[in-house]
Amino acid sequence: MKAAICSQYGPPEVLQLQEVAMPLCKDNEILVKIMATAVNSGDVRVRGLVVSGFLKIVMRLVLGFFKPRRPILGTVYAGIVVETGKNISQFKVDEKVFGITGFKFGTYAEYISVNEKSIVTHMPINASFEAAASLPFGWHTAIHFLERAGIENVKKPKVLIYGSTGSVGVAAVQLANYFNVALTVVCSSEGRELMRNLGVDNVICYDLQDFTQTPQKFDIIFDAVGKTSKPVCKHLLNTGGNFVTVGGLDMATEKVIHLQFIRQLFEKRKCRAIIDRVYPFSDIVAAHAYVDAGRKKGDVVVTMCEIDEVVK
Ligand SMILES: NC(=O)c1ccc[n+]([C@@H]2O[C@H](COP(=O)([O-])OP(=O)(O)OC[C@H]3O[C@@H](n4cnc5c(N)ncnc54)[C@H](OP(=O)(O)O)[C@@H]3O)[C@@H](O)[C@H]2O)c1
Repeated sequence: MKAAICSQYGPPEVLQLQEVAMPLCKDNEILVKIMATAVNSGDVRVRGLVVSGFLKIVMRLVLGFFKPRRPILGTVYAGIVVETGKNISQFKVDEKVFGITGFKFGTYAEYISVNEKSIVTHMPINASFEAAASLPFGWHTAIHFLERAGIENVKKPKVLIYGSTGSVGVAAVQLANYFNVALTVVCSSEGRELMRNLGVDNVICYDLQDFTQTPQKFDIIFDAVGKTSKPVCKHLLNTGGNFVTVGGLDMATEKVIHLQFIRQLFEKRKCRAIIDRVYPFSDIVAAHAYVDAGRKKGDVVVTMCEIDEVVK
């Protein structure tokens, strides 16, 4: 099978498409033909080892000191089950599934074997492979941080999402809408239209206005891009209000119940895939370069093969 191999940390060009052995399907695993994956901010951070200070050492210890220990990067996938191990009960051949592998990586490939108990579930019935692959990264992160901020515990909380147009941002906006909060977002004026399309009326464009001067107060402030801080926003919080950020040491944890929740929301049309660009697998270097620039709106998807190839 083809896979994008990352044999050293560095710029997008370190990724090279190569032929590698097909993964085996063990007794507790399903073999998935990946139809789509996504290039997320986390992927480019790992590829380029883009962290500062002592975290670089931590990352090298976790991921591999001189090069990634797991050379096939990529953490999200949507595809078709093509083989099941003998102990598998939840999945059948030909079913469409999507999932997230976290630090196991391995999704920049045509096939992946995953444990039935890993973060994998059936795709929303109304989702394309591209849409399904675009959802897990941003949504898992948004669910983790907004749960942590207590979005479910306050009645109609006033919420500010800073950096609302990235993968995490667009998921957080939709999740906030689902919880029926009073929402204000901060993004660049380039993102204003997208926010309007997601039903947000209160948009502060950071290139036109200093959001810290708003007279409003909030119960929750979620920094979804890691580019502001609690000291900067503290005066905007109501008493007892919470500030949470993707930019600290707190890491979002992936849970299968969250993936199932995402599927339900998508099927109820409470969650939309916001896809900025789609690249073929052969252009994965270009996809990484685009995500590296840090300006994408929503998600960048990579398709592994023509859908027609496997439609039966
Ligand atoms: N802690 C965790 O567990 C965790 C999990 C996932 C992600 N993260 C981190 O969360 C961050 C966001 O992830 P992501 O995948 O959503 O990133 P992303 O999609 O690459 O974010 C890009 C978006 O951020 C906007 N942006 C850039 N600079 C901004 C600024 N100064 N103020 C407001 N918006 C700005 C860009 O639009 P404009 O340029 O038009 O403003 C663009 O839409 C990343 O740093 C990632 O590493 C952390």
